[in-house]
Parts: sequence; C-alpha cells; structure tokens
Amino acid sequence: MQQCLKIYGKQKTRGSIKINGAKNSAVAILPASLLTGKTVKVDNLPGITDIHRLIEILSALGAKVSFRTETSLELNLNGVSSFSPPSELVNQLRASYYLMGSLLGRFKRVDIPMPGGCDLGPRPIDQHIKGFSALGAKVNLEKGFIKMRAKKLKGAHIYLDMVSVGATVNIMLAAVLAEGKTIIENAAKEPEIVDVANFLNAMGAKVRGAGTDVIKIQGVKELGSAEHIVIPDRIEAGTFMIAAAATGGEVLVKDIIPKHLDAIIAKLKEVGVSLEIGLDWVLVKSSGCLLPSDVKTFPYPGFPTDLQPHMMVLLTCSQGTSLITENIFERRFRHIDELKKMGARIKLEGRSAIIEGGYELTGAQLQAMDLRGGASFIIAALISKGETEIRGIEHIDRGYEKIEERFHSLGIKIERIS
Ligand code: UD1
Repeated sequence: MQQCLKIYGKQKTRGSIKINGAKNSAVAILPASLLTGKTVKVDNLPGITDIHRLIEILSALGAKVSFRTETSLELNLNGVSSFSPPSELVNQLRASYYLMGSLLGRFKRVDIPMPGGCDLGPRPIDQHIKGFSALGAKVNLEKGFIKMRAKKLKGAHIYLDMVSVGATVNIMLAAVLAEGKTIIENAAKEPEIVDVANFLNAMGAKVRGAGTDVIKIQGVKELGSAEHIVIPDRIEAGTFMIAAAATGGEVLVKDIIPKHLDAIIAKLKEVGVSLEIGLDWVLVKSSGCLLPSDVKTFPYPGFPTDLQPHMMVLLTCSQGTSLITENIFERRFRHIDELKKMGARIKLEGRSAIIEGGYELTGAQLQAMDLRGGASFIIAALISKGETEIRGIEHIDRGYEKIEERFHSLGIKIERIS
C-alpha cells in the first residue's frame, strides 16, 4: 500500500525525545550473531524495516527468534545450517552484505545476491571481496550473485584502499573464526564498528583496535553466547537536532553519546545554534536565525554523509551562501531537485552544492528517493509555508522508527496517509 506523509509548514519542534538504537550497528550485529551456534540477546534494537527484514532472513536461515520486549531480541542460532539467504529479502537492504562475512566465517561458504539499499551512485564492494580473498576464500561473481568457498580461512594483512565502514565490518566478521591473526589497515573508525567489535568480543572473539585505523583480530575456534545493548543512533539524534535548529525550536535529545555527535555539534554552534551538552543528552535551542557555513562530508569523526541532506535543508534558512561538498558518495545529491521544487536556491557543481540561503521555501509534493534524503524533506516541510506531501516514505521507514509519531511527540502536526 502506497503511503505518504502530509506535513503542515511553519512548525517548531519543542519538547524532549529519547533516541533509539543505532541502525548501522544493529544491521551488523544481527548478521554477526550467525557466527555462534549458541543463544544471543540483543537489546535496544530500533523498530525499523531494515531490522524486520534481517530478522526474516535469520529465521529463513534456521535461527529461532523471539522478542522479549519490542526492542529486545533473543536469537537461538543452534539450528542455522543454510549458507544461502533468500534473494527477495537480501535485495531489500544494503546491510545484507554483512551476511557474506558472517556466513563465510561460520560455514566457509556463501551464496548470496548483490545487496540492495539506497541508490547513492555506484556502491562497489571490491574492498569486501579483496578482504575475503585475502583470508583464503575463492570468490565467484556471476549474474549479480556472489559465491564464496574456502577450505579454511587464514588470518591475513589487509590494507583497505579507501575507508569503508562495510568492508571494515565485513572483514572483521569473516576473520574472527579464521586461523591466526588478521590486521585491517586504513580501517573505518565509526562508533558502530566499535559496537560490533564489542559484541563479537562478548561472544568470545579477540578483536582489538576497533575505533582506530588499525584493527587486529586473533582468530578463535568458536564463539559462545552473549548479551549486548546497541549504542544510540547518532544519525537519528542528528536528525532531531538539525530539525530543532532549522525550525527555531527547543529540543532535549536524550539517551545519546554526545561524543559521537562532535562534528554535528560543532557545525550547529558555527551556524549560531545554542547547545547545552550533558552526560547523555544535548539541549538544542535555536532562534531560527542562522549563519551560512561550509560543510564537507568525511568518514568518522568527520561530518557524516548521512546527515548531509538535513544540513543542506538547514542551510537554506541561513542568511548567506553556503557550500556543501560530498566526499563519500558521488551521487548523493538527488534530494536537490526536490528541494528546488520548494523554491530552494541550490546549484550543483560536481561534488559540491552551493546553497543560497534566506529565501523562504514553499510546501510541495515531494518524492523521497533514499532514506536520509527523505528524512530531510520533513525538516524542509516544517520550515516552509503551506503544506507538503512526501511520497516514497518506505525509504524513510527503513531507518527511522515511526517517524511521524516521533515528530508528534515534539508537538508537530504530521499525518501518515494511505
Ligand atoms: C555505510 C553506512 C551508510 C553510510 C556510509 C558512509 C551501513 C549499513 N551503512 O555504508 O549509512 O552512509 O557507511 O558513512 O553502515 N567503497 C568502494 N569499495 C568498497 C566499499 C566502499 O569503492 O568495497 C566506496 C563507496 O562507494 C563510498 C566509500 O567507499 O564511496 C565509503 O563507503 P562505505 O563506508 O563502504 O559505505 P557503506 O558501508 O556502503
């Protein structure tokens, strides 16, 4: 059933909001659980469709899955014997690529289609494959299908050509049960990678250095049971912080790790937003009168590409000209055409967008084409005059749990319409 969001303009977000578990951790931790044949418990899972799909995949592979609460899952992995996850589910999310590393690690064989997910331009997985091959897997790519086989996996020294979250985690997953030591150099340093490493170590793996650019993994024979709490979602937190900043609102963003938000906090301060920072909360107060800024996306701890569209919307309400340079995904600018329908003055030049701020946006009919771009349209709708309708919200649901209810709790009038 096609659904859309209807949002009334000129609304300010006010109140407090608790942040859910991190999507990008949870989508790696569930596949990682396949590395054990025992039982694991995972708490603070976000209720997003990417997680629902992964649970269906784990069940199809033979895992027994039971929810202890809405956000807490128990997985018994004893009955898992399949190394071939169903194509129709794998195709629905990018993070299904983590099944490659975990199934290869556990069974030394995998048959899996290429992963789906947001279209942000070319998203190759050559670095993942390079890592699996270095560990001893024979990799065959045929008609969009990846088949990997290994007699055994042996630790290796792997240098990543570019900083990749997916490749770092995937190689880590494949290496924990390999013989001997694996070293990943030029590894990504995202907090979600540390979270996955902590989960693996709780199961008995020996992963050291996660969060730095050199990760060392001493292979172990098998993994056991574990309990784990997923870290808070810094992108969801950043979304509500930017929404408050853009709308001239006041929002207490709770249950977060402020350190993970350093890049966003610094940028918001730079454009004139007032921020109070506590142990596990940030209070955002904004007059709505903002300064322009230049933003460049970089791997963590740089400004996250996943908040680039939201930041672009924010900069449309600043007084002056801003520049956003997208260094991670070359085509992650598909939101611009939709924002232009609202009257935004944005010019694209190669990997940079020039934003002329200070012109009021007008409500329009928008089509979400990817997860984060879609979420940024909600913020654009809130600052514009008139009514906005956002279609394609299945993209937003992949990464934000009941987004309209979250905004209702901040006093916003927004409806989901079938
Ligand atoms: C992950 C995140 C996504 C985020 C992105 C960048 C998950 C599930 N998704 O995506 O939300 O936007 O990190 O922070 O955690 N690359 C290659 N070859 C490879 C791998 C990557 O060329 O084998 C390139 C990509 O095309 C991109 C860059 O490296 O230009 C970074 O990609 P990567 O960090 O791997 O992103 P994802 O893991 O897909």
